[in-house]
Amino acid sequence: MAHPAAVPVLTIDGPSGSGKGTISRLVAERLGWRLLDSGALYRAVGYAAGEEGIDLSDAEAVTRCAQTVKIRFQASPDGGETRVLVNGHDATDELRTETAGAAASAIAVIPSVRQALVDLQHGFRKAPGLVADGRDMGTVIFPDAAHKFFLTASAAERAKRRYKQLKDKGLSVTLTILQREIEARDERDASRPVAPLKPAEGAVVIDTTGMPIETVVEKVFAVVRP
Ligand code: C5P
Repeated sequence: MAHPAAVPVLTIDGPSGSGKGTISRLVAERLGWRLLDSGALYRAVGYAAGEEGIDLSDAEAVTRCAQTVKIRFQASPDGGETRVLVNGHDATDELRTETAGAAASAIAVIPSVRQALVDLQHGFRKAPGLVADGRDMGTVIFPDAAHKFFLTASAAERAKRRYKQLKDKGLSVTLTILQREIEARDERDASRPVAPLKPAEGAVVIDTTGMPIETVVEKVFAVVRP
């Protein structure tokens, strides 16, 4: 079996609504590589801590939860959305809400929580390759990645995309409130001392404002397979 370090990694980081989730999935499908949705791990820890009645600012208790929580990704049998099982419970629907996003962002500032998730994330690096989606994939988790991307978009456009995503999934949201929540989350993600949201050195930055998904995918492949 190939040594993990020999397995190629492509990282796609950026703020919420930048398109990185969709783009990562499409790029992984086209390459036939595995996909790591690292945000889902932080969401799962926040969710599990909430279920256990843990105060999200209690660093020790949240860390214990991050060290023990069982997170499993399960391909949907009908080819639909991958299900996320948290301690055996299908929490996919709960994890996609903005409340879960805010909880994830709150616990993601705790260094020992981030540390607890490192090995789990490295474990996704298996042949033939990995597309890793998150905030610190290129800077901290896979600094040796062969290709690094950082997607951005204007705050208004990111809020509109998230609004549409959540509406399509049947969730009740208000655009102005959502935009405020997203801005607060991005501000916290970008200003935290540990693994802040920022482009990795040498990352290709793509501003996806007003750009169709296919164009972003082509831009990625123009770099990966010139
Ligand atoms: O990408 P997603 O919106 O699911 O991420 C939820 C939150 O998890 C982010 O706002 C961020 O605080 C945290 N996160 C992180 N590092 C990652 C991925 C997500 O801190 N690699």
